[in-house]
Amino acid sequence: MKDGRIQFTYLSQSDLLEAGCFDIEMALSAAEKGLIAYYKDEVLFPEKIVQIFNEETQERINCLPATFLKEKICGVKWVSVFPMNPVKYGTQNLSAVIILSEIEKGYPVAVMDGTLCSNIRVAAMGGLAAKHLAKKDSEVIGFIGAGEQAKMHLLAMKHVLPKLQECRVCAKTAREEEQFIEEMSPLIPKMKFVSTKTDGKKAMEGADVLITATSAQAPLLKAEWMKPGSFYSHIGGWEDEYAVAKQCDKIVCDDWETVKHRTQTISRMYKEGLLKDEDIYANIVDIVMGKKKGRESDTERIYFNAVGLSYVDIAIAMAMFNKARAADIGQKLDLQERMIFKNPKLGQYVKL
Ligand SMILES: NC(=O)c1ccc[n+]([C@@H]2O[C@H](COP(=O)([O-])OP(=O)(O)OC[C@H]3O[C@@H](n4cnc5c(N)ncnc54)[C@H](O)[C@@H]3O)[C@@H](O)[C@H]2O)c1
Repeated sequence: MKDGRIQFTYLSQSDLLEAGCFDIEMALSAAEKGLIAYYKDEVLFPEKIVQIFNEETQERINCLPATFLKEKICGVKWVSVFPMNPVKYGTQNLSAVIILSEIEKGYPVAVMDGTLCSNIRVAAMGGLAAKHLAKKDSEVIGFIGAGEQAKMHLLAMKHVLPKLQECRVCAKTAREEEQFIEEMSPLIPKMKFVSTKTDGKKAMEGADVLITATSAQAPLLKAEWMKPGSFYSHIGGWEDEYAVAKQCDKIVCDDWETVKHRTQTISRMYKEGLLKDEDIYANIVDIVMGKKKGRESDTERIYFNAVGLSYVDIAIAMAMFNKARAADIGQKLDLQERMIFKNPKLGQYVKL
């Protein structure tokens, strides 16, 4: 360190898996802590930087920083969203890298896969909401959308609602539904999976928990399919008809001030004057901190919309890094062995 050595830990997705970081409980707890820290003004959270390469497909790379002041860690998520990847290449839409730096000297401490973290974060936020807002005895979960977010969401929902026993799935193609079932059934062997052959009504009607996680931009979920007592987690953009939010007894967001400026269904409703600030019951942190009640009856329909708060990704990344470090997993790499002008061989390299 004396000569200015800078070393960080590199954590691939395999490293994170091996270290036990695919851990829903850990993600839920880190997400909760992150939300509370932000609420207490202990997080620096500047505006994200967005670079869009194709307006039509919305192919983009975003840069999302956040600092946890108490933990003295500054992180950034560098995330690519290429919605056509599943169709064009049969691969994932989202991929991410996360860098964590300490803020004493400002040196990086970790460079890690951010895809696992990012996807777990989305699911953890849904899981956190379900923990407070879904009926504890929920048995049937329905999905419209069967991509990466849907898969992760199912795991988080099963974790917080262990009585779930039937999962119905609707995607754009029946093949995708089958793939979802092929990948998910070994992970939750006792779950009964139902492929709906692209029938949204079959997936959602009468389900206790309803999830939409699509790239559709269309009102796929109908209000009449949502029974009293159900919980709905909305993940994508425009996915449900306006009547869904209208009929819900409570609308809860990850952060309404952020949601209302985006393009989700309830953001559209707000911009069209069909939804007002006072129609939003709470942000999830208010419920986590006990400032507002969660579910209060067996008949309430509850709507949860998360737009994604990237400081929560950094909170989860810190938890993953700590877990990997405790297990001594990851590759230690030198960023620099010494300060530039302390390098005894520098003469060989300098070109004037
Ligand atoms: N809220 C958040 O924090 C957050 C974070 C990440 C991603 N997202 C969003 O979540 C959504 C899903 O992401 P993903 O990575 O799972 O995408 P993906 O491309 O892997 O999956 C999209 C799914 O939508 C389905 N779909 C599209 N049109 C449909 C239709 N008409 N009927 C039924 N199903 C249809 C596809 O079949 C596919 O299963 C995207 O809109 C993404 O932007 C939200």
